Amino acid sequence: MRKTETKRSRNNIILVGFMGTGKTVVGNALARRLGFNYIDTDDIIEKRAGKTIPEIFAEDGEAHFRQLEKKAIRSLSHYDKYVIASGGGAVIFDENIKQMKNAGVVICLSARPEVIYERIKHNTYRPLLRVPDPLQRIKELLAQRQAQYEKADVVIDTSELSVDEVVNSIIAELKNRKPFNELELLDSHHSA
Ligand code: S3P
Repeated sequence: MRKTETKRSRNNIILVGFMGTGKTVVGNALARRLGFNYIDTDDIIEKRAGKTIPEIFAEDGEAHFRQLEKKAIRSLSHYDKYVIASGGGAVIFDENIKQMKNAGVVICLSARPEVIYERIKHNTYRPLLRVPDPLQRIKELLAQRQAQYEKADVVIDTSELSVDEVVNSIIAELKNRKPFNELELLDSHHSA
């Protein structure tokens, strides 16, 4: 569970990446494989604010949402053995990337714009994509954020991969990285 500041473990896996790259589904599957807990920074924000993400954007604006997101990310180093999915825009501030790296290994999931569009087109929960031409908007936002996503410790293109394949790639990466290479649970859960 949560740890105090002095006992920071960095035993967490933080998933970053654009909307629709698979952070939630991969994060849940990865957490199950590792026996870790799963949490999403958007859920932390909604719980603390007592409103949904679309309500926060509509009533308080994106800038306020970004402040709440920064606060949620600042609290991540208190978690231990969590898979943490962050919102797609979390990387736009270097401060957030620094905080996430402080809490664990930062893995970016990426995908081609067309694949992202197919995955999210029926979902109305994302205020930034409620525009007449969502694919164009996805391309613009990706272009703006690309350099930030590349600051992750590892980048995995999920466009052609199944959830299990993405999970296996992440586990293969963890095996070479402290402190995960010292956790025995990886081998016993790795079936590939
Ligand atoms: C956002 C992504 C969303 C959510 C908010 C803003 C973004 O999270 O944080 O709608 O700026 O890309 P998901 O990536 O989980 O959809």
